Amino acid sequence: MIGIFDSGIGGVTVFREIIKEMPNYKYIYYSDSLNNPYGDKENDTLIKIVDNIVNYLVNEGCQIIVIACNTASAICKDYLRNKYNIPIIAIEPAIKQVYDQKTTEKTLLLATKGTIDSEKFKELYEKYDNHAIYLKECHGLADLIEDNNEAKIKEYLELNLKEFKGVQNVILGCTHYPLIEEEIKSVLGNVNIYHGALGAVKELKRIIASKNIKETKKEIIFIDSSKNKKKEERFWQLLNN
Ligand code: DGL
Repeated sequence: MIGIFDSGIGGVTVFREIIKEMPNYKYIYYSDSLNNPYGDKENDTLIKIVDNIVNYLVNEGCQIIVIACNTASAICKDYLRNKYNIPIIAIEPAIKQVYDQKTTEKTLLLATKGTIDSEKFKELYEKYDNHAIYLKECHGLADLIEDNNEAKIKEYLELNLKEFKGVQNVILGCTHYPLIEEEIKSVLGNVNIYHGALGAVKELKRIIASKNIKETKKEIIFIDSSKNKKKEERFWQLLNN
């Protein structure tokens, strides 16, 4: 069994890429809406929260964990990998993908405060900085996406992204943000969008093959830590989109 988690339903943007490639496995998706947002939490607090989730998923029988959250990946992956003796797949903002394009075009990277302030992100940024990247912490945006508040999302993007009009590339450094790709394009125009989901898919595929985990009947269990029925409905709807 494979366990996937995020602070809410945003991680579905990673999970649906996984399902496209590897449908016939048993999955548990854990949406931690009780503790969201993760992006503004202190590191120690977030590590405790995430440790409890991974502990739960391992007790349920998960042999591999996918952290479908950039913030939790950046802050908690080393701790989790040291503690648990199973593969822990993490995700990171797709800054290398832009770097590899050898472009001089302007790029905007959107992420939570937790991600941008993290040591892991600083390392990544220093390694792949092409001197044309603007960083923008999007405080509160993941919450608006969780609540599916269309009017407020539109207002937020107009207000916070208008100074970046003219960029050609946008890196979505939070797994919630691909859910509003169209809304971002309606403010910034037809920009190239980058996100890190495919890196996680590739890594999961490699680990499944190396551990020789056999295909089985497709099974998906959804758990929301605040038992929010609306979130669950939205999760299934987004997963099948
Ligand atoms: N989806 C998460 C990420 O990728 C975090 C959103 C939040 O809870 O702040 O960073």
